[in-house]
Amino acid sequence: MPKTLAILVLVGVTAIGGWFVVSAWGGGSVQQPVAYNHKVHIDAGMECAACHTGAEEGTHAGIPTTDKCALCHKVDRPYPKTPKDLAFYLKANKEIPWRQLHRTRRHVYFSHQRHVALAGIDCEKCHGDVKKKTTPFDRAAFPDRQAGMNLCVDCHRKEKVTTDCMACHR
Ligand code: HEC
Ligand code: HEC
Ligand code: HEC
Ligand code: HEC
Ligand code: HEC
Repeated sequence: MPKTLAILVLVGVTAIGGWFVVSAWGGGSVQQPVAYNHKVHIDAGMECAACHTGAEEGTHAGIPTTDKCALCHKVDRPYPKTPKDLAFYLKANKEIPWRQLHRTRRHVYFSHQRHVALAGIDCEKCHGDVKKKTTPFDRAAFPDRQAGMNLCVDCHRKEKVTTDCMACHR
């Protein structure tokens, strides 16, 4: 098979397969270890970057460690309410084994800083309405469910940003 054709076939297969490699892909949803609720924390006035510390200034947004939760949640205090699943990890002083669901392929380069701080794109544009989410993510969620690298390339085209293969595939 000629090389260009092989690439086109690969791209096609990836597009059908979905944007991200999600461990739960096709097999229903992932169960997270603690019933985290984004809405109550946003309503309490917290910023996204207070927990996802790399979301504005880093390559990776990051998922918070247990000591971040322990700033407010104490097993022996009634407020804020600390459900049993969270109390278990706090008492044991253990990391909560969150499953990261949004993840690009190894050969793809993506930087949060570039998109959030430099381009000023809202989290919602790529991750959906997280502020209203009352249950943990159980799959990678994107508002328009575009597949494969199309979501990246479509926006780059619209915004007149590079669509050079080597910009994203390093
Ligand atoms: C700045 C303080 C603060 C931090 C930090 C914080 N929480 Fe909370 N959390 C709250 C408040 C306020 C509530 C609502 C409390 C209530 O209704 O009693 C809450 C409620 C919750 C609930 C109950 C949700 C529900 O549906 O009722 C869970 C679960 C929870 N937090 C998990 C976490 C986890 C996991 C972390 C760490 C990643 C964390 N929290 C970090 C303040 C915080
Ligand atoms: C232009 C699209 C885009 C925007 C805007 C965006 N993200 Fe992401 N996000 C991604 C992609 C792509 C990944 C997977 C990254 C990877 O595999 O390295 C990701 C991954 C994540 C993850 C998983 C953990 C990690 O370290 O990768 C978190 C948490 C996250 N984003 C939070 C945020 C927050 C908070 C904002 C806003 C401040 C935001 N994102 C804005 C596309 C975006
Ligand atoms: C109090 C800490 C806290 C705050 C504030 C917070 N998050 Fe999160 N976020 C978490 C935790 C814990 C998880 C893992 C559990 C889950 O999926 O809900 C998570 C998961 C995510 C994920 C999925 C990561 C993955 O790939 O598995 C995205 C995307 C995300 N948050 C975006 C946001 C955005 C956007 C905001 C602001 C509107 C925000 N978060 C505010 C704690 C927080
Ligand atoms: C909603 C629009 C949007 C989406 C979706 C998007 N990008 Fe971008 N991207 C931009 C903009 C705008 C810039 C230019 C930012 C700046 O000012 O430097 C950019 C810049 C980049 C750059 C730097 C380009 C250079 O000039 O070197 C890379 C690499 C990149 N994006 C990769 C990705 C990847 C990978 C994805 C998908 C996972 C993605 N982008 C999704 C809008 C987007
Ligand atoms: C704006 C960013 C961006 C640009 C530009 C881009 N890609 Fe991609 N590409 C991606 C992302 C993100 C994925 C991963 C999709 C997934 O995981 O489902 C991907 C996946 C692929 C794959 C599938 C690899 C696999 O692991 O299955 C091939 C092949 C590919 N791209 C080739 C190209 C070629 C050839 C070009 C230039 C014509 C190009 N890409 C330009 C972001 C980009």
